Amino acid sequence: MRILFGVAGGIAAYKAVQAVRLLVKAGHDVHVVPTANALRFVGLPTWEAISRNPVSTELFDEVSRVRHVSIGEQADLVVVAPATADVIARAVQGQADDLLTSSLLVAEAPVIFVPAMHSQMWRHPATQANIQTLRDRGVSILGPDVGQLTGDDQGIGRMVEPEIIAEAVERSLRPKDLVGRTIVISAGGTRERVDPVRFLGNDSSGKQGVAIAEEALARGAEVIIVAGHLDVHTPRGAEVIKARYTESMRQAIESLADEADCIIMAAAIADYRPADPASAKLKKSQEGSELNLRLIANPDILAEISHRSGRSNLIVGFAAETASGDELLELGRAKIARKGCDLLVVNEVGEGKTFGFDDTDVTILDAEGQIVAEVNGPKREVAEVLIDQVALAI
Ligand code: CTP
Repeated sequence: MRILFGVAGGIAAYKAVQAVRLLVKAGHDVHVVPTANALRFVGLPTWEAISRNPVSTELFDEVSRVRHVSIGEQADLVVVAPATADVIARAVQGQADDLLTSSLLVAEAPVIFVPAMHSQMWRHPATQANIQTLRDRGVSILGPDVGQLTGDDQGIGRMVEPEIIAEAVERSLRPKDLVGRTIVISAGGTRERVDPVRFLGNDSSGKQGVAIAEEALARGAEVIIVAGHLDVHTPRGAEVIKARYTESMRQAIESLADEADCIIMAAAIADYRPADPASAKLKKSQEGSELNLRLIANPDILAEISHRSGRSNLIVGFAAETASGDELLELGRAKIARKGCDLLVVNEVGEGKTFGFDDTDVTILDAEGQIVAEVNGPKREVAEVLIDQVALAI
């Protein structure tokens, strides 16, 4: 892909060098357009060496080749990183006073702005209004993060890391094969009340469900996340329905079952709940050192939606197993038969595995128990492979 990589004058320009490097390594043809101020932070030879393409910054360089038009026109994607408050304002106003802003006016490709500035500048109503205008025009805004800024100060305004920029680029280049499709994804762990201040829960972080939601959004789907307890942010663009308890998750999923083209049950749902949750805080028992909680089984949401009569949507389940190898597959096959879903993502869990971690080891089975894909890597990659399967099937 041919990428126009705009760089504005902020200290984060030094991190943009690494983003360009990653994009070049991924095989993209990157054309860097720094503003004059960007060159005060990172010089032209660096951009040329890293991008492996000639770099110009002035409107009046090589006028005969009409560069102020051609660079923008030929781009398949435009990234501006760092996007300072100044370049954001100039882009909103449609100014064309340097090669970067004039290229932005010409480009018809998708545009990603990666803001970086001090917290006060980011929070200023002028910047916020400008960001909203860019969003309304269809520009993607990536970040900013909260963290250390240029000096010792901390706050919102830090540019996202180069790896995140590279990932966002890959996502924006994904095929839009799920436009018009609605995908419901349950994510995170459910909790069950013991008393008003205590609950039973599990270690699920929601990372896998959120990664699937991000992938489905990148492919153009309408995404609804039914969220249990999550340790991660939900992606912009997804509708989020909070469902902390199994019963609320069940109601939410059931109410969406008709409109969903696909339901992906990535949530770790409590199999049991206290039979009689206390209405007042449980007191430490005065007699003896035991407290017995009686648990009753929760409904199996995946099995219920899979066995709905006359269903036409695709249903994907997850299996968390502490086994490995053939035993893991056998457990997976038994589970898909029992639950009645169309695809099952079987993964190994346990100490140091899957829950809360970025990498995982999964096998995807179809309804006949056949292996359709295997992934050993980041949850983002699992999401990509799973959504490939979903896109094939719906
Ligand atoms: N699931 C569900 N409702 C439940 C329990 C689980 O919908 N009450 C879903 C999960 O979201 C997941 C799948 O069922 O997609 C498998 O969950 P898992 O915990 O692996 O299986 P269980 O049915 O709990 O079986 P077991 O604990 O015996 O392995």
